[in-house]
Amino acid sequence: MILNNNVKVIGRNDPCPCGSGKKYKFCHQPIDQKMMEFRRKGAIVPSKKLLKKPAEIEKIKASAKINVAVLDYVAENISAGMSTEEINMLVHTKTVELGGIPAPLDYEGFPKSVCTSINDVVCHGIPSPDEILKDGDIINVDCSTILDGYFSDSSRMFCIGNVSEENKKLVEVTKKAVELGLKEVKPWGYLGDMGQAVNDYIKENGYSVVEDIGGHGVGLEFHEDPFVSYVTKRGTDMLLVPGLMFTIEPMVNMGKCDYYVDESNGWIVRTKDGLPSAQWEIQVLVTEDGCEVIAW
Ligand code: MF3
Ligand code: CO
Repeated sequence: MILNNNVKVIGRNDPCPCGSGKKYKFCHQPIDQKMMEFRRKGAIVPSKKLLKKPAEIEKIKASAKINVAVLDYVAENISAGMSTEEINMLVHTKTVELGGIPAPLDYEGFPKSVCTSINDVVCHGIPSPDEILKDGDIINVDCSTILDGYFSDSSRMFCIGNVSEENKKLVEVTKKAVELGLKEVKPWGYLGDMGQAVNDYIKENGYSVVEDIGGHGVGLEFHEDPFVSYVTKRGTDMLLVPGLMFTIEPMVNMGKCDYYVDESNGWIVRTKDGLPSAQWEIQVLVTEDGCEVIAW
């Protein structure tokens, strides 16, 4: 018999490695056993490092508190006539004032502290002093915060002044799609349950969802596994295990799902047909009895 000495056997009565202070048998042992069963059945089971420990969750929540406050601050101050650079300044100043660091700044060369995506911009819009918000625009403001090395990420849509009924509907349907997706997030379900719920609702409304830009694991890093798709099917994709944390952030196009990336900056994504696109993003934690929204 060969004993693999990399495998550390945890005794039932040992303290749980998650750091809760409880005995293993009363804490993560049942979860670990269930993960093993699902793995045997061929499920895609998240690696242990993707499952946040209680102390990590507290740190991520503190980061998210800033992210939410910054978006609330944007909500109070956004208006027609303002440039997207002014939104960038609001986000940057408020994040720093609350003790955080804006995660987008210098992330893979991104030049600003927030993404601002107006109308046909799908995502990754770069704030600019030359881009002025006008009556009737719809805009996504996507904020991400680092606090003490822990990450939070969420985004909201804002309707500027008098927005057309059809654009308002796009914004509302996209928000509802996220809510319907969220209802599917529970332990021992699958990420595809969420993906299909989002996609079905978007299709019912005659819209399309962008396929290869999506959500992501988040918390210890800005972008972690899993990739969160909205073209997956119920009962497929990653198993949802307590401690898994990810974003739900579908990009919903009024027309076709095709997009292109602006070559002059390598970031700004626009719809090919020029029709508007909307996105809401929340950060979600899978818990033992359901889920918890960490940032919105
Ligand atoms: N906040 C975006 C997301 O939801 C990521 C933007 S990357 C950046 O994943 F560099 F553009 F900020
Ligand atoms: Co995100």
